[in-house]
Amino acid sequence: MATQLFEGKEHASYYQKFRFEPSQEVIDLIFSYVDERLHKPYGFAIDVGCGTGQNTRILSPYFNKVLGFDISEAQIEEAKKAPGSSNVTYSVCPAEEMPVGDASVDLLTASTAAHWFNIEKFLKEVDRVLKPGGCLAFFSYFVNMEVHYKDRSEQMTEVFSEVMNILGPYQHEKFNNMRTAYDEIYEAIPYPDKRRIENIVTKIQMPLSSLMGLFHTSSAFQIYLKAEPEKAKEVLRTAEERFLRIMGTSSTETEIEMWLQNLLLSASKPQ
Ligand SMILES: C[S@@+](CC[C@H](N)C(=O)[O-])C[C@H]1O[C@@H](n2cnc3c(N)ncnc32)[C@H](O)[C@@H]1O
Repeated sequence: MATQLFEGKEHASYYQKFRFEPSQEVIDLIFSYVDERLHKPYGFAIDVGCGTGQNTRILSPYFNKVLGFDISEAQIEEAKKAPGSSNVTYSVCPAEEMPVGDASVDLLTASTAAHWFNIEKFLKEVDRVLKPGGCLAFFSYFVNMEVHYKDRSEQMTEVFSEVMNILGPYQHEKFNNMRTAYDEIYEAIPYPDKRRIENIVTKIQMPLSSLMGLFHTSSAFQIYLKAEPEKAKEVLRTAEERFLRIMGTSSTETEIEMWLQNLLLSASKPQ
């Protein structure tokens, strides 16, 4: 049975506002891999577990046609509302049963999503839909981020880690895929031409308010919020107060810098 933790409308709206776009470093690595294996112009890309379409939209200038799929109606509704290009469309469907033809796809991406899928079924489906020579790119960032602010980054990161530790017990078991850096997923990719890059660091400037919004996008926070609404809200209230105190400001619009560690698996189907 599919893992459906991204169904709420409010969750989807936080997602659209606060989830990061894939980093340019990751996109550049994907396309340096693809450029060596496919001929331009590129035809058809699909983005699986597309959420509100952050990564789907990025693919649009490179391909004639891009489709984003997600199992959550609420996420797809938000994706459709966001400004986009005419060559991008979205639909609700599971990663394990995609409504596209055999050997039709040039690039298949899954951005912070592959760890949620039934990997055995998904990879069979990937093999069915990819053209011979077609590429896949599964990528994600790790949750152990650093929060940088002036000379107080260590204290800021400590508060962030404490919140993540509180959310730890609410993480779904599929999250183990993140803890093992997609080890099992990488091993299960049946193609000899595959590579894994783990040490891609991205630095993102944002106001503190966006970091607080980011916590809301986490499936673990949403589970905690349902189970213990008052405690969950209190954890974020206290964290925000502590961040502000450390920063010596009262404004949540003060800019901080998040440092993310990204992971990218790339592979290509044999010709
Ligand atoms: C962490 S979000 C990532 C969304 C987006 N790709 C991004 O980069 O922000 C994971 C997404 O995978 C979707 N998902 C989980 N299991 C799925 C499945 N079996 N089939 C399709 N989508 C799935 C969820 O609904 C959710 O929108």
